[in-house]
Amino acid sequence: MTYDFDTPVDRRGTASVKWDFSKRFAGLEELTPLWVADMDFPSCSEVIEALKRRAEHGVFGYTLEPESYYQAVIDWMERRHGWEIRRGWMLSAPGVVPSLSLAVQSYSRPGDRVIIQPPVYFPFKDSILNNERQVAENPLTLEGGRYTMNFDQLEQLIDERTRLLILCSPHNPVARVWSREELERLVEICQRHKIIILSDEIHHDLVLNGHRHLPTASLSEEAASITVTFTAATKTFNLAGLGCSLVIASDNDLRERFRGTLKRVWGGIANAFSAVATESAYRHGESWLSQVLEYIQGNYDFLVESLAEGLPEARVFPLEGTYLAWIDLRALGLSDEELKDRILKQARVWLDDGPMFGSGGEGFQRINLACSRNTLAQALDAMLRVLG
Ligand SMILES: Cc1ncc(COP(=O)(O)O)c(C=O)c1O
Repeated sequence: MTYDFDTPVDRRGTASVKWDFSKRFAGLEELTPLWVADMDFPSCSEVIEALKRRAEHGVFGYTLEPESYYQAVIDWMERRHGWEIRRGWMLSAPGVVPSLSLAVQSYSRPGDRVIIQPPVYFPFKDSILNNERQVAENPLTLEGGRYTMNFDQLEQLIDERTRLLILCSPHNPVARVWSREELERLVEICQRHKIIILSDEIHHDLVLNGHRHLPTASLSEEAASITVTFTAATKTFNLAGLGCSLVIASDNDLRERFRGTLKRVWGGIANAFSAVATESAYRHGESWLSQVLEYIQGNYDFLVESLAEGLPEARVFPLEGTYLAWIDLRALGLSDEELKDRILKQARVWLDDGPMFGSGGEGFQRINLACSRNTLAQALDAMLRVLG
């Protein structure tokens, strides 16, 4: 490995949400934070150099994304995901979460129903409720240690007020990378019922163990005609603090409706650093990415071994995608309150509680594996002492 992911970088004092705000968000100080989904690793060296060059220029006036940025995205999508996209399909947006909310506004009316598949990234639900739409839940099925989408239940759930489905692909927090068959079945059902798919693919590059991410819109013309894709380089290259994303829709009507909503709230001015970082990451970051994925896989294996030895009641789900492992602690027979009390207050390890992700999250915890092995080992040690 060229990159050293073992030596921890001290992130304290950088106004990091993960490291500097535990008092505000968790009510406690001196925690080991393995919660919010960013990495503790520096981004790849080419990105850092490109940002330094931009910073040294010293003038940070109004900025737009250059065409070379869009070309880098087009090349990346083709090379990494076999998805041929066009410049005209893309809209820049400040982030995936605000974009999802704008999409809910663009494609539905107050009172309409929007489907989510919990346990799932909790801002999906917020984007529906904050816009006075109704949440329609199609919980994932957990069978034989594997999560799948429940298509029969989905068909039954859909009614004449159902307009949208927010898909998490790869799925945070259960770490599934959806197969072609699953996505095709989903598209077929949504198309038949005239439901638009908002496909959040921010974790698209973080796939492990030979899994392959398939952009929903790349499956077929039918899929493209009902899908709006939300993506960014921010998870892949640890750039979330730069606040940027892309919305991609080949369907003119879908894209123009979104553009209209976006224009009402945002003038389209880019962060002066975000396109520089994304372009450089997509042009030069592949070796860094493969190394970071290898390291995360090592952390995952370490987690599985540590729990098998120290807490055999725990079950960790296969990490097909994301760097967030989903742990089933139900066999311990503890309430969510008790689990939180032990992990957060006694072990002083800060994970994301399963119930945050909605139905089916009770008794589970999500752990962020994008940290140094040593940080992970210390956190697991502390957790095993209070749970084992
Ligand atoms: C599925 C998913 N979507 C979106 C985001 C955040 O997107 P953004 O930072 O662009 O708002 C996250 C961050 O964890 C995520 O897991």
